[in-house]
Amino acid sequence: ASTLAAAAQQSGRYFGTAVAANKLGDSTYVGILNREFDMVTAENEMKMDATEPNQNQFSYGNADRIVNQARGQGKRIRGHALAWHSQQPGWMQNMSGTALRNAMLNHVTQVATYYRGKIYAWDVVNEAFADGNSGGRRDSNLQRTGNDWIEAAFRAARAADPGAKLCYNDYNTDNWSHAKTQGVYRMVQDFKSRGVPIDCVGFQAHFNSGNPVPSNYHTTLQNFAALGVDVQITELDIEGSGNTQAQQYQGVTQACLSVPRCTGITVWGIRDTDSWRASGTPLLFDGSGNKKAAYNSVLNVLNSG
Ligand code: G3I
Repeated sequence: ASTLAAAAQQSGRYFGTAVAANKLGDSTYVGILNREFDMVTAENEMKMDATEPNQNQFSYGNADRIVNQARGQGKRIRGHALAWHSQQPGWMQNMSGTALRNAMLNHVTQVATYYRGKIYAWDVVNEAFADGNSGGRRDSNLQRTGNDWIEAAFRAARAADPGAKLCYNDYNTDNWSHAKTQGVYRMVQDFKSRGVPIDCVGFQAHFNSGNPVPSNYHTTLQNFAALGVDVQITELDIEGSGNTQAQQYQGVTQACLSVPRCTGITVWGIRDTDSWRASGTPLLFDGSGNKKAAYNSVLNVLNSG
């Protein structure tokens, strides 16, 4: 196959990208989007600050532009993200206790209900674990409402959109030996054992020289899948260039293809110039929209899977 989406489909997988609503008028951008990808994540437009700027007043204009563009082209959508300590609207940032818990659950319910039936998978909770060696939860206003806030969010999401896969999504959870990876693993294991609704784990996969693709990446994905959840690579980007970068992209793609329950890969933007990273060249297309060596290595692996 000659595109990322068609190549991924050969093994029943998808290949997605993050999309920004304010780039939908850029014909080069939209041309690559429509040609290469079959899954779309709104880069910012479905976050809490975007969808509920004032309490109980919901705003879906930019998110809908992305959803409608994608669905019009037959693409599916990953929803990102229902509950997160970051990108909270101002009114929520200083809330606490029962009022915050109820506001969070109302947000999850309202947004998941609005998009009911249109979302392949929701990142229900994003980035709730601490960096470093504790393996525990990140301190946040949501965490301070009680350790059960994550399962409460998942139950609310399931009730609102029973057809969507419900994911926990985080970064720096790629290396199996890291405490953060183990902490998330134990939570998923606990949720599965108690019947808390969870269907998938998202691995953001933002890699750079300080956080390289681990040699045990396959082990990480396989061990999570063995808990009975799908795994997805949700925000892939890899700093670097040329063959070195291409080889790392190849390794990540191979790791996913080697795990039957790794259902797809999403890159966090289209061209290098679309990346959230202020400088650098972490994506599959250069600033002019040309395919990079990394693109070719990913396509080749997908075609061999
Ligand atoms: O849209 C405003 C613009 O009007 C304003 O002039 C400008 C001035 O700062 O800000 C613009 O908003 C920015 C927005 O991106 C759109 O470009 C925000 O400041 C900026 O904070 C925001 O950054 C996003 C970041 O999440 C916020 O947390 C990045 O685009 C987005 O790529 C990044 O994505 C995250 C995932 O959601 C979660 N995982 C990590 C990943 C990378 O950080």
